[in-house]
Amino acid sequence: MGSSTSILGLGAMGSAIAARLRETGHATTVWNRTAAKAAPHVAAGSKGAATVAEAAAASDVILVVLLDHASVREHLDPHIAELKGKVVVNLVTTTPDQARETAAWAADHGIRYVDGAIMAVPSMIGEPHARLLYSGDEHAYNTVLPLLETLGTAEYTGKDPGLASLKDMALLAAMDLMFLGYVQAIAMMRTTGTPAVQTAGEVEAWLAAMLPHGRELAAIVDQGTYDTGGQSVDFDRFGIQSLITASREQGISAQFLEPHQKLLEELAATGHGDSDWIRIIERLTIH
Ligand SMILES: NC(=O)c1ccc[n+]([C@@H]2O[C@H](COP(=O)([O-])OP(=O)(O)OC[C@H]3O[C@@H](n4cnc5c(N)ncnc54)[C@H](OP(=O)(O)O)[C@@H]3O)[C@@H](O)[C@H]2O)c1
Repeated sequence: MGSSTSILGLGAMGSAIAARLRETGHATTVWNRTAAKAAPHVAAGSKGAATVAEAAAASDVILVVLLDHASVREHLDPHIAELKGKVVVNLVTTTPDQARETAAWAADHGIRYVDGAIMAVPSMIGEPHARLLYSGDEHAYNTVLPLLETLGTAEYTGKDPGLASLKDMALLAAMDLMFLGYVQAIAMMRTTGTPAVQTAGEVEAWLAAMLPHGRELAAIVDQGTYDTGGQSVDFDRFGIQSLITASREQGISAQFLEPHQKLLEELAATGHGDSDWIRIIERLTIH
């Protein structure tokens, strides 16, 4: 590869990436919309680029760490000529379809495109527990892998450029729903004066004990028959009703729990009361 790596975007994440690349001996060229943010990087040894065109022309590898899909397209689209034949690794958080759209645009213009998703906060960059997911042009990915490995553990998820984003979004969705569980438990216990931190500790221990069941449920999904005799839809309907009633008795809304109940009721109404409750996954498919 060429001698320099260009980084577009020097927010919290772009700055951490630029610093890590310098630390590992890579020549870097940096650009940021607000030019003042580039100054400390230039002082630390990066080359400053006054424009995206200049940054794109300076390197064979361009790491994009802007805010969102719109800012990526705003700044890449006008620079097809400078980007042609280069490897663009887009580390910006996007949806899978946005990643596919940018990949299609890149392919149309001879730009070698790898989409990335960072499962880490800036302070983790460079540590093995920083997990970075990639998808898209596999040859381009392999070419820049040694560089990407300096940022954290690199994982290639597949040729579909939307895959890295999809996995990122799926794991974030799981985290989001899990933390809503914390909120519900804390709200219920606070009605008796229990400190939130105490309940959080209890939730943590309880979830840790329950987590292995996630894989058992997943195995039922893969098997696809929903007849293992595990916890049934009808059993779960009673369970969820108790949670909803208990919340309300304490003056706490059951808004997070009600959608779960609705899906179970739909399953029961369509003749699946005896099924394993995990059949609920079928209700999530939008037809
Ligand atoms: N921070 C994290 O923990 C984390 C974790 C995983 C993934 N990510 C992802 O990494 C990306 C960067 O995040 P960040 O934490 O670095 O965000 P940030 O600190 O808010 O920085 C945003 C960067 O985007 C630039 N920007 C915003 N709008 C722009 C536009 N229209 N045109 C040009 N530049 C624009 C900003 O430039 P200015 O300086 O000119 O405003 C700045 O360089 C995001 O997609 C984020 O989702 C972040």
